[in-house]
Amino acid sequence: MGVQVVETALRDGHQSLFATRMTTEEVLLALAELDKVGYRAIEIWGGATFDACLRFLDEDPWERLRLAKKVCKHTKLQMLFRGQNILGYRHYADDVVEKFVQKSLENGIDIIRIFDALNDIRNLECAVRATKKYGGECQIALSYTTSPVHTVEYYVELAKKVESLGADSLCIKDMAGVLLPGDAYRLIKALKENTKLPIELHSHCTGGLCEMTYLKAIEAGVDIVDCALSPFSGGTSQPCTESLNFALRGTPYDPKLNVDMLNAAASKMQPVRAKYIANGLLNPKVLSVNANIIKYQVPGGMLSNLINQLKQQGASDRLDEVLQEVPNVRRDMGYPPLVTPLSQMVGTQAVLNVLLGERYKNVPKEINEYLHGRYGAAPAPVDEEIRHKIIGDDEVITYRPADDLKPEFEGLKKQYKKIAKTDEDVLSIALFGDVAIKFLEKRIADAKPTLIQVEA
Ligand code: CO
Repeated sequence: MGVQVVETALRDGHQSLFATRMTTEEVLLALAELDKVGYRAIEIWGGATFDACLRFLDEDPWERLRLAKKVCKHTKLQMLFRGQNILGYRHYADDVVEKFVQKSLENGIDIIRIFDALNDIRNLECAVRATKKYGGECQIALSYTTSPVHTVEYYVELAKKVESLGADSLCIKDMAGVLLPGDAYRLIKALKENTKLPIELHSHCTGGLCEMTYLKAIEAGVDIVDCALSPFSGGTSQPCTESLNFALRGTPYDPKLNVDMLNAAASKMQPVRAKYIANGLLNPKVLSVNANIIKYQVPGGMLSNLINQLKQQGASDRLDEVLQEVPNVRRDMGYPPLVTPLSQMVGTQAVLNVLLGERYKNVPKEINEYLHGRYGAAPAPVDEEIRHKIIGDDEVITYRPADDLKPEFEGLKKQYKKIAKTDEDVLSIALFGDVAIKFLEKRIADAKPTLIQVEA
């Protein structure tokens, strides 16, 4: 069998290129064609898609999922799930994690890709258990990064744990696009030799490497790669689906995707891309290669955040110093991968260290919590001298952070029974608080003129 492809245009594609603003109507525009392409899955849901629906688009993300499921008859729908953070930014109680998994599967998700920023397996367990319990396909993704501890052996050891946890497949998630072709070859080869799980690779074109990295990973035996339909590919997004399909012709890896359906879907989606270029949301800057992300080993989004933070402080000239401080903060913190929320935390600390002229003079609340063990275990030991400077003799927890959390779901359901009509609404509130409450209140206000509601 050839390489399988997961289509990411409707999740990571627009998330990476234009702040996840694709509407449900646009998501559905070419879905019937995409459904006939022959993908392993179409990724359609994740933290940012859910958040943007409620916050910016005044749309119900659950409704988007149900409508997509109606159209997609042949292809599995996939979502990205941040372990114990679900789709949000903090740890949630186990009952919310389980309920969210259950409702995602009920509303149309087939495959749940679960990851943790720190690769702390304990933060994955609850979501994995729930996915198996409710009959979903469970993929565990490992955050890829480079550091003295993030060796091939480190990922092989984690892969073995992932396999024994009961995952159906494993994904290497290179969110920053820093995986080099040669490293990909060695990593995938070692993973294939040490686990029976199908291996998937997810990366980004930001640094101009991704197509080469995919090809080497494919030669090393990777089973699945993530690609985006041409209008939403390249730049900070994934490699182009159509090109990869052609590139592998005449090789044993040929994905044999339906070219006519790909063309039909791409021509329907071209005007959507044109719209976001015209309204400025798709900045042509994100479409060009940014080799600095390889040099500094920071994700593209983090780099632009740092530039903005410094500009606001009138300290744009200190970018080089900050970029040199980022690896130092990462080392002090035990080499966390630079993915949400760690990328923001490490970046902010580096800016503070440079601008205040004294390291760790001022420390954000999140870094403080991290040093208490509240995000999980750091990949490598943190610098104990720096920890002591920041949290003194406070207790550092070594158990799973969510063990401290009491059940949340039933309480929220009672509290918001006036605006939350379904368990799905309660989950929206559990994850996005005020943003979801505002959306649900508006929905009720908008519905008022209709006197007769017909129950269907
Ligand atoms: Co991505």
